[in-house]
Amino acid sequence: MMKKLLSLSLILVMAVSVFGVQSVLAKNIKIGVSFSDFETERWPVEAELMKKLAAEKGAEVIVQAANHDAKLQNDQIQNMILQGVDVIVIVAEDGAAAAAAVDDAARDKIPCIAYDRLIKSPNLAAYISFDNVEVGRAQARGVLKVVDKGRFVMLGGSPTDNNAVLFRKGQMDMVQPLVDKGQIEIVADQWVENWSPDNATKLMENILTAQSNNVDAVVASNDGTALGALQAMKAQGLAGKVPISGQDATAAGCKSIVEGELTMTVYKDVRLLTPMAIDMAITLANGQAIEGLQDFTLAELTLDDSLQGTVPCKFLEVVEVNKDNVYDVIVKSGFQSYDDVYKDIPEDQRPPKP
Ligand code: GAL
Repeated sequence: MMKKLLSLSLILVMAVSVFGVQSVLAKNIKIGVSFSDFETERWPVEAELMKKLAAEKGAEVIVQAANHDAKLQNDQIQNMILQGVDVIVIVAEDGAAAAAAVDDAARDKIPCIAYDRLIKSPNLAAYISFDNVEVGRAQARGVLKVVDKGRFVMLGGSPTDNNAVLFRKGQMDMVQPLVDKGQIEIVADQWVENWSPDNATKLMENILTAQSNNVDAVVASNDGTALGALQAMKAQGLAGKVPISGQDATAAGCKSIVEGELTMTVYKDVRLLTPMAIDMAITLANGQAIEGLQDFTLAELTLDDSLQGTVPCKFLEVVEVNKDNVYDVIVKSGFQSYDDVYKDIPEDQRPPKP
């Protein structure tokens, strides 16, 4: 018996020295990763990053996307539980609807991490994201630097995404005081179903018709919907004349910035958030506690005082990006490629290739 124990511990020590503690602890861990959709540029990128990071640590990842269908997402999560996952990372289509799946998983002792978007359940093991209210402030600030009076359009994100509520809170922190002063009039306020660029185009077409194109600025909530709105603005000769905000520093968004149409975007370095998700998932799957999280109440995270309970959280910083710093912050950091951003800029007007 003693001899057997000695040989086992010898094997373990050798494995640790060869593969490192985490990968030994990650062996045989199955991580379920559930996305709301793969329509937005960032989600498939983060799925690949998570797969790569988990593989490097010896863990297995099951990835699924729910095509903006909240019921399908819950079914996919149930299915992951049946497939024996040890932990689940979720980008929720609907923060309220996904709470049922998190509560079910908790009953089966399977910890869930809400990734980027909050899920309205006190049974979350962790919620990790960016400072979403600051995203909204940066968006409004970026537009107000160009135009700080007149007729404004507010274009919110998906109504089922708690982030959209937080972005709007930040936007109004900057805009409301100017409305109160009578400097700004909000002439239209719409929320874009599913964060769909096509929905944004249709909404903006109707707004421009209703306002006879008499709009001075648009506070939009991500690159996808902003570029959708810009389609309608372009058709009316307003693109590049009326400032508009974005988010996510997508390739198309940064390209539109250097071409003078999108005014700004918000850089959220997902290369920092994905490793955090995989490390926390492995820690939870090993039954260990995650260090460095701070408790927030669901009421403060949702601006809805009727919600009870707290969630352990971690939020990363965001960076305001416009034509003056897109090259340094986005291109030189490799977040987007030089060729993607400057492809339609004449060679002699481009900055040097980093
Ligand atoms: C938000 C996310 C943004 C944006 C949007 C559309 O929740 O924080 O980065 O991409 O969803 O998917």
